[in-house]
Amino acid sequence: MSDAVRIVEVGPRDGLQNEKTPIGVEDRVAFVEALVAAGCPVVEVGSFVSPKAVPQMANSDVVLRAVDHHPDHEFHVLVPNEKGYDAARAAGAKVIAVFASASEGFSRANINCSVAESLERFKPVLARAKADGVKVRGYISCVLGCPFDGEVAPAAVVRVADALWREGCYEVSLGDTIGVGTATKARELLRAVAGVMPMQNIGMHFHDTYGQALANLYAGLEEGARVIDAAAGGLGGCPYAPGATGNVATEDVVYMLNGMGIATGIDLDKLAAASREVCAKIGRVPVARVNAALAAKARRTGG
Ligand code: HMG
Ligand code: MG
Repeated sequence: MSDAVRIVEVGPRDGLQNEKTPIGVEDRVAFVEALVAAGCPVVEVGSFVSPKAVPQMANSDVVLRAVDHHPDHEFHVLVPNEKGYDAARAAGAKVIAVFASASEGFSRANINCSVAESLERFKPVLARAKADGVKVRGYISCVLGCPFDGEVAPAAVVRVADALWREGCYEVSLGDTIGVGTATKARELLRAVAGVMPMQNIGMHFHDTYGQALANLYAGLEEGARVIDAAAGGLGGCPYAPGATGNVATEDVVYMLNGMGIATGIDLDKLAAASREVCAKIGRVPVARVNAALAAKARRTGG
């Protein structure tokens, strides 16, 4: 496993969308800039969803416009429908992400429609994006369990992945929204989804609620998956998934990959500093073992 992994840094969106302490637009921009300076190639910077539903992501247009001046970096935003697409395009979005669910319960809670309705809703968005030369990423939530419906069969995930891939998403990210998966199940799921689309276009988006995310990622890497979503400092969760904690921490992922000789282009010390800075603003410490270890080492050595 000596090749490269593409990390999609989702902290400014998936992380901050669920933080109780409001954080200003300037601080969101500063966070993205710090992540860019740390070498994060792809950063998800916000959402064009209802500000009543997710107030933390209001003014994502301001954030996108402020950071969209780095030609070598890709900035993603979430779009649930055509209204969101209009707003994202007006703010200059070049890559958007639509988000479906593998389970009906979460689909209803998150975007107020069934899975089938959501896929219909995405069709005009995907068609317009294609015409506009905008890349579309697809998310599937609750791929390894749902807070409302319980067990989720791999076949349900495969159906949605197949639809998103055939409708033109360049990548489909598999979200273990509530972080309940374990390595064997993650491996089996990736194998099943790779039956309908290439493994290299599958993203692994694992929340770390039960502390299994790194193990699940390792299993996915062994299967050949090479796209990992992670949030600096292990920030966040999902406002519509009770009990879900943050994504796997980017620091922990980068440390693991560095040890395996797999390149990410991300500077671990700069990344850890970016996490600590944003966490200080929202009054918490990073939920990242590697960040805590680096901070303790710096204290010991006076660094
Ligand atoms: P709805 O109520 O069915 O939609 O919501 P509607 O079309 O009936 O509109 C209701 C109101 O929302 C109207 O405003 C619309 O104008 C407004 P009002 O008349 O009441 O003032 N509206 C919008 N405003 C701004 N931008 C828009 C937009 N669309 C409608 N795009 C909707 C449907 C999807 C909009 C709503 O349910 C929503 O915004 N939900 C938020 C979903 C969300 O952001 N969830 C968190 C992200 S997903 C996630 O975290 C999982 C992921 O990380 C992967 C994983 O971990 O599994 C991706
Ligand atoms: Mg998520």
